[in-house]
Amino acid sequence: MNDKIEKVAQWIITSKRTVVFAGAGLSTESGIPDFRSPGGVWDRYDPQDFYFQNFLSNETSREKYWQMATEMYEPMKKAQPNPAHLAIAEMEKLGKLDCVITQNVDGLHFKAGNSEERVLQLHGTAMHVSCLNCRKSYDRDMIQERLRKTGGKAPRCDDCGGFLKPATISFGQSMPEKETEEAHRRSSLCDLFIVIGSSLVVHPAASMPLVAKQNGARLVIINRDPTPYDDMADAVIHGQAGTTMAGILEKLREKLKQDG
Ligand code: APR
Repeated sequence: MNDKIEKVAQWIITSKRTVVFAGAGLSTESGIPDFRSPGGVWDRYDPQDFYFQNFLSNETSREKYWQMATEMYEPMKKAQPNPAHLAIAEMEKLGKLDCVITQNVDGLHFKAGNSEERVLQLHGTAMHVSCLNCRKSYDRDMIQERLRKTGGKAPRCDDCGGFLKPATISFGQSMPEKETEEAHRRSSLCDLFIVIGSSLVVHPAASMPLVAKQNGARLVIINRDPTPYDDMADAVIHGQAGTTMAGILEKLREKLKQDG
């Protein structure tokens, strides 16, 4: 393990463009369950029930969606960045981070100190709500309060009566164009691509490591469980994101100090 941490830190040092790709496994140590681990979101809910088309089609599906979304939002609201988030933010401060491509909607990259322009949120954000019709944006806590008062009735837009939904991307919903294009571009240009805490099974997000590898980048995977891309990776660490990234940051600082 230590050899691999040493090696990854050295690769970051020599890298001109390091991209970090984040999944739900990055935030479990902050108290937010992931999706596909035992006890994860899709262990408790059937993902088939939460396709975007369902949300659009009937009131019962919208209420069910908001019930699940409310349960997911509670731990996110009070969550704090863990050592893995803080290490990524520190990499930015040290000038060793090109960008973070994240599937996470919890906003913890920003709480950790990463700047807006260096974080590409591929699956949107749970931190605010928007109208699917007129795009009006609403504060999440205000809408949660409205849900509580109406006993879980699916909220509507005050301006146009449109359906309100957390600004996250559901299965079957189109990806945010600007972020997806930019993520693809940065993946194709980087020389080091580090995956942290993702099962790498949800596309098109999971195509980004492939784009990086096919364009000559080194691929590092830090994930507790095996992923379908482990065989093509240059280094695989099956460990906890927090301790692993804290170890890599420590080595990075040491090397930067040595290099003066
Ligand atoms: N450290 C390292 N790895 C971890 C940790 C941890 N502390 N906790 C969990 N993991 C790993 C798990 O082993 C799992 O392989 O993180 C991975 C999380 O995988 P998923 O739950 O599938 O999450 P993710 O890859 O982000 O899912 C992609 O699917 O449901 C949709 O929109 C949702 O963005 C999400 C997308």
